[in-house]
Amino acid sequence: MANGGARDRWVTRFGLVMAMAGNAVGLGNFLRFPGKAAAAGGAFMVPYLLALVLLGIPLMWIEWSIGRHGGRYGHGSTPGMFHRLWKHPISKYLGIFGVVLPAIIGIYYIYIESWSLGYAWHTLMGDYWGKTSREEMKAFADGYRGIGAGTFAFSPDAYLFFLITFGINILVFARGISKGIEILCKYAMPTLAGLGVVLAIRVLTLPPLDGRTVSDGLAQLYVVDWSKLGDAGVWISATGQVFFSLSLGFGMIHTYASYLKKEDDIVASGLTAASTNEFVEVILGGTIAIPAAVIFFGVAEMRTIAQSTFDIGFQTMPVIFQQLPLGRVFGAMWFVLLFLAGLTSSVAMFTPLLQFLQDELDLKRRTGVIIIGLGSFLLMQPVVLFLHHGILDELDFWAGDFGLVLFAAIELVVFAWIFGMKKGWEEIHFGADFRVPGIFYYVMLIVTPLYTLGLLAWWLWYSFPGKLWMTDVNPADVPYLWLGRGMIVVLLVLVAFGVRYAWRTHPKYFEEKVQE
Ligand code: ALA
Repeated sequence: MANGGARDRWVTRFGLVMAMAGNAVGLGNFLRFPGKAAAAGGAFMVPYLLALVLLGIPLMWIEWSIGRHGGRYGHGSTPGMFHRLWKHPISKYLGIFGVVLPAIIGIYYIYIESWSLGYAWHTLMGDYWGKTSREEMKAFADGYRGIGAGTFAFSPDAYLFFLITFGINILVFARGISKGIEILCKYAMPTLAGLGVVLAIRVLTLPPLDGRTVSDGLAQLYVVDWSKLGDAGVWISATGQVFFSLSLGFGMIHTYASYLKKEDDIVASGLTAASTNEFVEVILGGTIAIPAAVIFFGVAEMRTIAQSTFDIGFQTMPVIFQQLPLGRVFGAMWFVLLFLAGLTSSVAMFTPLLQFLQDELDLKRRTGVIIIGLGSFLLMQPVVLFLHHGILDELDFWAGDFGLVLFAAIELVVFAWIFGMKKGWEEIHFGADFRVPGIFYYVMLIVTPLYTLGLLAWWLWYSFPGKLWMTDVNPADVPYLWLGRGMIVVLLVLVAFGVRYAWRTHPKYFEEKVQE
């Protein structure tokens, strides 16, 4: 490893699993999942569960293995990790996505996370009490984010909570893996689960309203409408959700796994982290927002609400809490839950970049933290100030939707087909407490890569052209969307140059020496 020091390590297995689960459990579980599932109306869970078994869990094991394998050679980010799997000049360049994608996602994710903190405060203070319609709550949300007041979407209120959230993230991130992220997740994850259980019980015990019951809400998720299964959009949306929710195709599971020791188990720990995410997503995430929205608004309106990811969490839930006894307390619990879910994910998002700067560019940790802190803060400004021009959604599409599928497809080809599934299977099982059922060998070799490549082809064919040429975009927003794209391209180019520089100046990368 660069800087001559030993790699940071996870201290306990519980801490590792909580950190990995925290990495996965995020805003995606409580906002994106209910939104997408409800919008698809009764057909979502079939493709979702299929994607979980055929893509999600196999990819989880693969990403853990790539990470642990690369970490053994002193690489904590995917350019170096891919170089160790495939000795081809291009392999390290394919790895740049695993550094850039999570950083781009972090740039907008932290802002959304800060809304949760702001709303937790305003809910506890009862600041929007009395605004009991969705329209009034929409006006409140716009006001909170400063939308409509002028050229910039700026409000001191939202900016303050953004600064606090950004500060907390940098503080935890700067303390490193064992002293920062592991400690945070050891406490935050059980707290989050506790809050989720209390809120789920609260929703499950809601009395019927105008004949609408909790079961009507749960039926939106669990009663399958087979007629909708022919809709390709539902399959794409459910599969994309599995990637986003499990943090697959980001590059940040790899970095967390690079802090494992060679003999640390991957099979059981990876499965535990994935199962924890699914419990939180399907059981807790699925039980809170959708049933509550169905009881208070009815199925048809809930479907409309679900079209926008944020409306359920930030407009509908506040209306509902106002109608419950102890609503301020339950409401604050909901937003603290969102905040903790977001925080335990966002602290992971810049770790690949930091490891890249340390391992490959030989920068000191402190210097890396300062560069990332300043750089990310700068890039967050357009996201905050031009929110109303759709820059956040643009970054989310390219990095959080398309980028994840692209990078997952790349890493599957590199791991299963080039490195080879035979070696891959051995790698997965080093130090394993139990063996993965043999059928998964073929799933990882054939089904997972083809499924992902098929998904990528679908994206390229159907969604990509319209998105690329900005059909259906308000002309006034076009420059801002280009600004978002420019940010992605600049980061990709910078990291690519970083790779080029590193591999030219450090011949050690061609040595086979394992770093213990
Ligand atoms: N996996 C994280 C989430 O669900 C990114 O939000």
